[in-house]
Amino acid sequence: MKSFLKKISVLLLTATLLGGCGSGNFAGAAEDFIEENEEQADDLITVGFSQLGAESDWRSANTDSMMSAFTEDAGYNLIYKNGQQKQANQITAIRTFIQQEVDYIVLAPATESGWDTVLSEAREAEIPVILVDRRVNASDKNLFSCWVGSDFELEGRKVAAWIKAFTGTKDIAPEDLHIVNIQGNLGSSAQIGRTRGLANAARENGWDLMAEVSGDFTETKGRETMGALLKRFDNINVVYCENDNMAIGAIDALESAGKRVGSDIDKGEVMVVSFDGVNQKALEYAGEGKISCIAECNPLHGPRVRALIEALENGESPRKFNYVDEKIFSREEGVDEVVVDGEVYKVERQF
Ligand code: AHR
Repeated sequence: MKSFLKKISVLLLTATLLGGCGSGNFAGAAEDFIEENEEQADDLITVGFSQLGAESDWRSANTDSMMSAFTEDAGYNLIYKNGQQKQANQITAIRTFIQQEVDYIVLAPATESGWDTVLSEAREAEIPVILVDRRVNASDKNLFSCWVGSDFELEGRKVAAWIKAFTGTKDIAPEDLHIVNIQGNLGSSAQIGRTRGLANAARENGWDLMAEVSGDFTETKGRETMGALLKRFDNINVVYCENDNMAIGAIDALESAGKRVGSDIDKGEVMVVSFDGVNQKALEYAGEGKISCIAECNPLHGPRVRALIEALENGESPRKFNYVDEKIFSREEGVDEVVVDGEVYKVERQF
């Protein structure tokens, strides 16, 4: 915005100097002024950032992180476009960035499929594309330079490992776990990975995974989806929510239906588990035991994306896939760590 205002003021001043005076000297001064300012603008690296939307607190924190990393003081001109959860809007944004001849395109894709054409257009224009948060399943991996984000399936497996360990400490038989999954927006990496993490664990452990329904990562849809699931099933005792915002909505629906939310499944409570660890209310719920376990999903990718761009600027080749380390949180006693693929993850009590 600042650089946009700067350009407008340059144009206004130019119009005044050229139109108002008509003297050769003034025109010359105006040209010098324009050149000087264009040089300043040229010094900045222009980044077009196509964010997928504003569906959750995680997303807002992610957008803030990008905004704070790509400031003019840091040498960047960030053009931000909110895709409003629609891939079509994101494709339009990328085409606009190409027309604007930005130096880099950063894409947080809503879903994994359907990017080949527009990414080929960016490649033709020789604009490097960096993926952040979720991924694309491009036919050619060279359609993007690199990616940074979470291992969503690992997050799901960690939560599943916690459910297994925790219910084990309470001697609850696997077949007595009646689970519903309130999923994120279908086709997104976060949904695909977390859904897979649970579905595989359910199959391996003999859990009763009764339904998988999308709540689009929003609180409103989480509430609606939970309400509908309660009409379909009367024996739900575990609700796996693929983010905290949906968990908040689901808890509201459960409590409105007269259910008690908590980890004492054997005493009739409904256990809610979730992902992110960003939303303040969700953290409070975790402290009160209304959310039994949260797998962290770290949104602070701004400095990470900037480091990737700096590496590219220096002619280096950063790693193609860059995973972020993440924690798992629960205040419940009995499980101090979970193990996934031989890797030990300490269960954090402070959040
Ligand atoms: O892709 C990350 C996921 O997207 C977060 O878990 C969720 O809250 C967000 O909407």
